[in-house]
Amino acid sequence: MTSDKLYNDPELVEFYDIENGWTADSEYLKTMAASRTSILDLGCGTGLLAAAIAREGSKRVVGVDPAAAMLDIARQRPGGDRVRWVEGDGRTVRLGETFDLVLLSGHAFQVFLTRDDQLAAMKTIAAHLSPQGHFIFDSRNPRVEEWKEWTPALSERVIVHPELGDVLAWNDVRHDPDTGVVEYDTFYRIAAGGRTFAAQSKIAFPSHEDLVSMMNEAGLVVEQWLGGWDGRRFDASASEIIPIGRLARPAVQSNRAQSMTSRT
Ligand SMILES: C[S@@+](CC[C@H](N)C(=O)[O-])C[C@H]1O[C@@H](n2cnc3c(N)ncnc32)[C@H](O)[C@@H]1O
Repeated sequence: MTSDKLYNDPELVEFYDIENGWTADSEYLKTMAASRTSILDLGCGTGLLAAAIAREGSKRVVGVDPAAAMLDIARQRPGGDRVRWVEGDGRTVRLGETFDLVLLSGHAFQVFLTRDDQLAAMKTIAAHLSPQGHFIFDSRNPRVEEWKEWTPALSERVIVHPELGDVLAWNDVRHDPDTGVVEYDTFYRIAAGGRTFAAQSKIAFPSHEDLVSMMNEAGLVVEQWLGGWDGRRFDASASEIIPIGRLARPAVQSNRAQSMTSRT
């Protein structure tokens, strides 16, 4: 997870924005953040989204990621000076402050490979949510088996690196049916000179049912399940699982509500 060369090797990190860039999730989340004043981006990566949110006005924006090489890019982008970047682990980081919006984008939630890791990440979300705050993240629906498209034949593409020129990129993939973890390789072969960069990564595909059970345990409730960044509702065939939720009612508040009810 934290040792993945895709995120930790400065030469491979140079490919991240070329491959991923500004997508439908970035647009959706930037719009959602527009009405909030404090935003925590867990697994913020190269900070494209966090910096764009921070550029929109006076907001408290914090980006957390364990990969120093990703944060180096984040700090240098326009708006990067308006974000507080924290080198930290989404499972354990505790900032001692709360936010109106806690988000993980670009399937960052899937870097948490085990149930313990996923639950720990959810507890981090809960620890940083203000009472009225919301959280949102995306995870690919395992029923759709998107990893079947990450074979060399189906994934081959040509990308253009600003300094290295044309680059042939492709993936390869293995799925472990016992754990549900998908291990995938990423290759970049530079046309000029033939040098090849390679990384091996692992991601999890928790099911909708697993997410519901972990959220209960972490003290989170979901108000809406989306199935895609176009805003469609989640169903079994949706490609994405996108919960939008909040803290389960804090115990203190519900006790107070109970005692008020008994007085009337
Ligand atoms: C697929 S990238 C997503 C980056 C960014 N959110 C985006 O939308 O482009 C996954 C990110 O998760 C980060 N990551 C890996 N392990 C992590 C952990 N334990 N806690 C928080 N982030 C982690 C990686 O360094 C990487 O930046």
